[in-house]
Amino acid sequence: MQLKLKLTVAAAIAAVASMASAQETQVVKIGHVAPVSGSQAHYGKDNENGVRMAIEELNTQNIVIGGKKIKFEIQAEDDAADPKQGTAAAQKLCDSKVAGVVGHLNSGTTIPASKVYNDCGIPHVTGAATNPNLTKPGYNTTFRIIANDNALGAGLAFYAVDGLKLKTVAIIDDRTAYGQGVAEVFKKTAEAKGMKVVDEQFTTDKATDFMAILTAIKSKNPDAIFFGGMDPQGGPMLRQMEQLGLSKTKFFGGDGICTSEIAKLAAGAKTLENVVCAEGGSSIQKMPGGTAWKAKYDAKYPGQFQVYSPYTYDATFVLVDAMKRANSVDPKVYTPLLKSAKFKGITSEISFDKAGELNNPAITLYVYKDGKKTPLN
Ligand code: ALA
Repeated sequence: MQLKLKLTVAAAIAAVASMASAQETQVVKIGHVAPVSGSQAHYGKDNENGVRMAIEELNTQNIVIGGKKIKFEIQAEDDAADPKQGTAAAQKLCDSKVAGVVGHLNSGTTIPASKVYNDCGIPHVTGAATNPNLTKPGYNTTFRIIANDNALGAGLAFYAVDGLKLKTVAIIDDRTAYGQGVAEVFKKTAEAKGMKVVDEQFTTDKATDFMAILTAIKSKNPDAIFFGGMDPQGGPMLRQMEQLGLSKTKFFGGDGICTSEIAKLAAGAKTLENVVCAEGGSSIQKMPGGTAWKAKYDAKYPGQFQVYSPYTYDATFVLVDAMKRANSVDPKVYTPLLKSAKFKGITSEISFDKAGELNNPAITLYVYKDGKKTPLN
């Protein structure tokens, strides 16, 4: 009798063991796209690091979806911040049948890529592209987990007028979807609040010489310059403002210039102290668990933190959370569940409105003190 019982127990253990080993592991690819080459590579690497970090953590959680043990893998693509390369990378991710995409970084690449993802039925969550037009087409596959430029541009204009009592501004933009968009919102809000736009100048996201446009602006003697663009232009612009004696002029910009890198690119120019920039979300210090997260990030990727990695990290978890709730990694099945996300991320509690925009987005203004990006609020 005892022997029979022992045999039965042994058989049960063997059966369970064979079931566990028979449980298939399914590799699920998550795409990431950002510029990881060219002058914006530092932003792109930071974004990619956020996704890599999330995937590493998810793979320690023994996640089972649809009865299969899931191993997540990143498929990382480079769009070099170029709209054409952006759509090509998006098509490549569609063809590779990734389950979802985190990206892109630039509005100029994300907006055209969003159509590609919609056509192939794969969701993408951006943690960085801020032009409000991204969610206008109403694609069910587009999500943004950071404040958009309506909030950033307006927040900066309010601070310029109400906080700093500035009266006049010259506006420069880099003619990208992002630069042009954020400058337009700033201009509209600033003018509505009585600020005078005394000059408007244009550059590109490749330029490094701004002497001609800054000289034109200097003749108008504005209290501030607003720059819609990224730090490879913002940094040299600050240096050239110093060279031209625009040392008292405030320098406003959105999240594109709100990086650690701009302090390096300004190369010691005192005009860095005149920068006021806005970024979506709370400062790392105020994010739930932000400080601990940042310590982990810095240990893994020393000196690489820029702006958006907490958002690309959360974006990865938000995709996987929807897969878990749907019990499926099939984009057709789990994408609709992204709309009902209620995910406690490290950046905030993430839920979306009908258009795929983050509900209740925060923004933070920053200045640079002793060369260090420092939150104002
Ligand atoms: N926020 C910037 C953009 O939308 C990076 O392009």
